[in-house]
Amino acid sequence: MIEFKHVSKKYANQITAVDNFNLKIQQGEFVYVIGPSGAGKSTFIKMMYREEKPTLGQIKVNEYELEKIKNSKIPFFRRELGIVFQDFKLLSKLTVFENIAYALQVIEKDPVEIKKRVNHVLKLVKLVSKGAAFPAELSGGEQQRVAIARAIANKPSILIADEPTGNLDPETAEGIMKILEKINIQGTTVVMATHNSHIVNEFRHRVIEIENGHVIRDQDEGSFFQDEASNF
Ligand SMILES: Nc1ncnc2c1ncn2[C@@H]1O[C@H](COP(=O)(O)OP(=O)(O)OP(=O)(O)O)[C@@H](O)[C@H]1O
Ligand SMILES: [Mg+2]
Repeated sequence: MIEFKHVSKKYANQITAVDNFNLKIQQGEFVYVIGPSGAGKSTFIKMMYREEKPTLGQIKVNEYELEKIKNSKIPFFRRELGIVFQDFKLLSKLTVFENIAYALQVIEKDPVEIKKRVNHVLKLVKLVSKGAAFPAELSGGEQQRVAIARAIANKPSILIADEPTGNLDPETAEGIMKILEKINIQGTTVVMATHNSHIVNEFRHRVIEIENGHVIRDQDEGSFFQDEASNF
């Protein structure tokens, strides 16, 4: 569960990127965050995993009240989350298998269990055959699937993705969406910022639309544009 209460974020340059957000995302929901460039999508998402702190207001994620959380507790808090970035952030000197295992080594000591988990998520993203490859040897879509596998290896309750289909062709983007939906159906909350109107219209979910730091729409089964018929 994610809850924002009167949350605002003003950066040091005095830009108010997020202005008085009040919303709840329940466990198991799939939520798109849409809006033009500079609207505040990434700022909103970064506050969920405490990459940014709000200037005002309260944020609760699972059992953590983020304005009260001690720095020493942040790594424990983040273990409940999976985070996927547009630019993948894979470690270039490690293989696909090692990139995923690395995320688990901090929390799971048993190498047999780690191997099992890595193979399981590689199967889920259909990359078993690429385990020994290095990131530079993969296509963009494959790298993004590794990033997703890494994010979910630890069975997070929430998967947060900032433009996970951003640099991908339409077909590859659809493949990524199918994986995210599968993860969601298994119970993981998915929060995803996107500019991809095709994806939002094809795979219908809740839409939170942001403009200029304000939530201007919050709609179940929403389409990319508010005035579009939402029942096809
Ligand atoms: N670290 C920062 N310091 C100062 N201003 C920032 C910072 N990060 C973002 N901003 C500003 O806050 C506003 C919202 O930015 P944000 O990155 O949240 O937008 P976005 O909706 O994710 O845009 P995009 O679609 O381009 O990724 C913008 O005006 C941006 O310039
Ligand atoms: Mg952004």
